[in-house]
Amino acid sequence: MKEVKTKKSLLNLQSYRPAVAESKSSEIIRLSVNEGALGPSPKACLAIKNWSKQKHLFHRYPDQIDQNLIKAIASRYGLNKEKIVLGNGSDDLIQLICNTYLDPGDEAIYTEYGFLVFPQSIIIAGGKPIMAKDVNYTASLDNILSKISKKTKIIFLANPNNPTGTMVGRNEISNFIKKVRSNILIILDAAYAEYVDKIEYSNGLEFVEKLNNVIMLRTFSKLHALASLRLGWAYCPEKIANILKSVRPAFSVNSLASFAGTAALEDVEFQKLSFSHNLKTKKWVFKELKDHNISFIPSETNFFLLNFHTKEIAINALRFLEEKNIFVRGMQPYNLSNYLRVTIGTKNEMKIFLECILSFLKDK
Ligand SMILES: Cc1ncc(COP(=O)(O)O)c(C=O)c1O
Repeated sequence: MKEVKTKKSLLNLQSYRPAVAESKSSEIIRLSVNEGALGPSPKACLAIKNWSKQKHLFHRYPDQIDQNLIKAIASRYGLNKEKIVLGNGSDDLIQLICNTYLDPGDEAIYTEYGFLVFPQSIIIAGGKPIMAKDVNYTASLDNILSKISKKTKIIFLANPNNPTGTMVGRNEISNFIKKVRSNILIILDAAYAEYVDKIEYSNGLEFVEKLNNVIMLRTFSKLHALASLRLGWAYCPEKIANILKSVRPAFSVNSLASFAGTAALEDVEFQKLSFSHNLKTKKWVFKELKDHNISFIPSETNFFLLNFHTKEIAINALRFLEEKNIFVRGMQPYNLSNYLRVTIGTKNEMKIFLECILSFLKDK
């Protein structure tokens, strides 16, 4: 009997399915998915509670574009409302951009240790992913430039990057953009922008304001800690924003996500607290690691890579931690098998994590 066939371009798709700890119970320490350590802001929690009491809202479709959320984003960051596109998480926006701009055979460049959703989305859209090597676990803009061909349509750059946690500075990006053809879309994915503490960092907004081929992506999943509600946004040149809005499924962002997201954005005090918690805890963890001669890649985000020097030790460490109900992320899908990625959790979670890692390494 003849079978229904998947389209040819997807036959070899390596689906990106992150290994997260399935349990969300408070018994486990979940440091595997870069979720905000402190949970959502008290104002967002209150908004969710109040919203869920209004039963009549559940049977109504959400607004196609929630203007309250758009207004909140625009006023928080001083932006033009027309240039904001909402998505069901920024993953959704990455796919939307690929589906909108890639014709079969078009090339899209991503970086060696860049976010794996990029190549996956390129392939799903029918494009060809082209990898540019990193240098020192950091995106190399020169290597990206060397991969540009006549067929290049999109360049993806997560800045700072997941899973390496490294970033490139404003001047480098500015010089890079000048060398890229204006009919190539440059996607600056700033999912971890809120955590960065470097003066030379740019989340990309300034480039979107000036140019017609740059998009910045943001998420509510990390610092705002609303990952389960799925909410992200893109800041685009107006023409591109209009096209994306017309291609986007009409109801892809649900009402509760928009409502909670609006409240979270307005809670600037909590954002400051989450930022300083991350910075302080990360500094303390890095000092502990250094003091014990444990190698890691310093990071600008709310996670970092721990170096175990061999794949076997990394796997054993992952298992050892899991037995203690601590979940971190194996890096085989990224070809970084000697490493484990660890999210910065609460102070207490990191204390327990460090004790376990030290006890694991004692016998090595
Ligand atoms: C660099 C990067 N971009 C985008 C995302 C997706 O975030 P969202 O939860 O908004 O889909 C992630 C999530 O891990 C990420 O690390």
